[in-house]
Amino acid sequence: MRPVRRGDLDQVIALDAQETGLEKRDYWERVYKRYGRAVRGEQSWFLVAVTGSEIVGFVIGEVRDWEFGSPPCGWLFAINIAQPARVAGIGSRLMTSFCDALRAAGVRKLRTMLSRENTLVLSFFRSQGMMAAPIIPLELDLPAAAPKGRA
Ligand SMILES: CC(C)(COP(=O)(O)OP(=O)(O)OC[C@H]1O[C@@H](n2cnc3c(N)ncnc32)[C@H](O)[C@@H]1OP(=O)(O)O)[C@@H](O)C(=O)NCCC(=O)NCCS
Repeated sequence: MRPVRRGDLDQVIALDAQETGLEKRDYWERVYKRYGRAVRGEQSWFLVAVTGSEIVGFVIGEVRDWEFGSPPCGWLFAINIAQPARVAGIGSRLMTSFCDALRAAGVRKLRTMLSRENTLVLSFFRSQGMMAAPIIPLELDLPAAAPKGRA
C-alpha cells in the first residue's frame, strides 16, 4: 500500500474501466491533480495496492470539514480491487490504511455513499464495520434550460 504516483495512472484508469465499462481519462487526470499530489495541509488520500509492478487496487477519500454542520468527517468515494485479486484481503488492507490516515489526522468518523443495488460493495463495507448513517441523500432532476429565443 502506498500513495499513488503519476506513473500508476494508466493502470488505475484501466482498472476503473474494467469495472465501469468506461475509460474516463480526463476525469482521472482531474482526480490525480486533486488527490494524488500530496499538498501540505490537504487532508486527502489516493492510495494504491501494488503487487510487483502491478496496481491491483486503489482507494480515494478526503476529510470534509463542517459539511452541513457535521464535524470534520472522512469520506471514502472510490475503492476498487482488480477482479483476479479480490477476496484476498487487499480491499480490507486499503481500508485499514485509509482509516489509519484519518485517525492520524484526528478524524473519528468515516462515511461513504453507494448504490443500494451494489450488494458486493455493501457486503464489503459491512464487513469493515460500517453501518447505515443518520443522513439521507436527496436528488433533483434539473431539466435543460429552454433555449433563449431571439428578441
Ligand atoms: C468490494 C471490493 C472492494 C472488495 O475487495 P476485496 O479485496 O475482495 O475485499 P476483502 O478480500 O478484503 O474482503 C473483505 C470482506 O468483504 C466481504 N466480501 C468481499 N467480497 C465479497 C463477495 N464477493 N461476496 C460477499 N462478501 C464479500 C467479505 O465479508 C470479506 O470478508 P471475508 O473474506 O472474511 O469473508 C471489491 O470486490 C471491488 O473492488 N468491487 C468493485 C467495487 C466497485 O464497484 N467500485 C466502483 C465504485 S467505487
